[in-house]
Amino acid sequence: MIDSNVIKKDFPVLSRKFHGKEIIYLDSAATSQKPRSVIEAMSNYYENYNSNVHRGIYQLSEESTDIYEKTRENVASFVSCSARETVYVRNTTEALNLLAYSLGHRLRRGDRILLTEMEHHSNIIPWQFLKSKGVELDYVKMDADFNLDMEDYSEKLKKNPKIVSVTQCSNVLGTINPVKEMGSLAHERGSVFIVDGAQSVPHMPVSFRDLDCDFIAFSGHKMLGPMGIGCLVGKLEELKTMHPFLGGGDMIREVSYEGATWNDVPYKFEAGTPNVAGSVGLSAAVDYLRNIGMDSVMDHERLLIRETLKLAPEIEGLVSFGPSDPEKRGGVFSFNIGSMPAFRIERELEAGNMVVSGSVHPHDVAASLDQQSIAIRSGHHCAMPLMGRMDVAATSRASYYVYNSIEDVKNLFIALSDVKRLFAR
Ligand SMILES: Cc1ncc(COP(=O)(O)O)c(C=O)c1O
Repeated sequence: MIDSNVIKKDFPVLSRKFHGKEIIYLDSAATSQKPRSVIEAMSNYYENYNSNVHRGIYQLSEESTDIYEKTRENVASFVSCSARETVYVRNTTEALNLLAYSLGHRLRRGDRILLTEMEHHSNIIPWQFLKSKGVELDYVKMDADFNLDMEDYSEKLKKNPKIVSVTQCSNVLGTINPVKEMGSLAHERGSVFIVDGAQSVPHMPVSFRDLDCDFIAFSGHKMLGPMGIGCLVGKLEELKTMHPFLGGGDMIREVSYEGATWNDVPYKFEAGTPNVAGSVGLSAAVDYLRNIGMDSVMDHERLLIRETLKLAPEIEGLVSFGPSDPEKRGGVFSFNIGSMPAFRIERELEAGNMVVSGSVHPHDVAASLDQQSIAIRSGHHCAMPLMGRMDVAATSRASYYVYNSIEDVKNLFIALSDVKRLFAR
């Protein structure tokens, strides 16, 4: 069992006060807070080891290279893969762009890519770039309870997509998708199977070996690590045959004025000076999470979601978006106050009516909660097509992590009932 009140003390920023109250941070799906151990590991690197890697033959540079490669081994073991299969990138977005660019080289006019209706823009836009080559995109539908429609998945797989790319956990709905089963089905059809792990790797045990997938992408900043470092994990045979993404220093073996040959994997995909301090921070974050245990992290967030789903019906007019079964979801809770379709809200707001039949705009919800020092996100959450599918322009979203307590959830709902009283007529 996690004692989130003890954990909270490791996170300096969580002692900040706004409007006279300590912050209740409920926006970890956007970015997580960082424990002191991560911050200190990074400043220790800069104070004692800073130098470029894979270049210098002096001792400081060799130590820095050694540190960088040890962080890779540590992060790789966290998701059960080898260091050679672990490419450092800036974030999930860069990992997915790398894949679209490199795998895109193999695609021809008429080839298909299968995504789902609940993808983040970073798992849509890079694939949409390939439409100019004549590549076609399909999207697996959701059912009425915000789970993927597996019949629709099987149907769309029959069109033999070359690539299937799916989020393991939706950043809007919290839906956890059955990626292991989906990967096996995709492989039966000969598709390359990609998992967007941005919202899963930080929150539940994820093993690259156990998942039937070819690639998984995740971001350090969502898992207690720093911004600017993330990973693309891929099967060695795939990485070896893929076209490089960025060109420059370190990713080459030989260069002439006429051409070049590539360095070994993973360096082939790490052009330029890497984020060494970021890798140190990510490795410290992995140590922190490992110390808690990923099963405990998942159980804790499920406890918070169960409490959330218990309290939600007490707010009159609250509409939530996500599976009704807490066992099928991560620690993300999207909701609106009032169920008015988006276009009508916009029209009424243009007419100067702040409150329409009990509906409160998500930005007003978030701004009101901020007055209580509760930080939630409002907007389209980088999932505009999904918003359209749900017939809303935006939602409010609370997202949890190891430093959130049941008390935080209760305070959220006390504040929401105040919002309702303040706005709704
Ligand atoms: C499901 C999902 N995929 C991808 C991303 C992109 O992550 P990043 O901004 O770290 O690249 C996010 C970020 O919120 C996400 O939630």
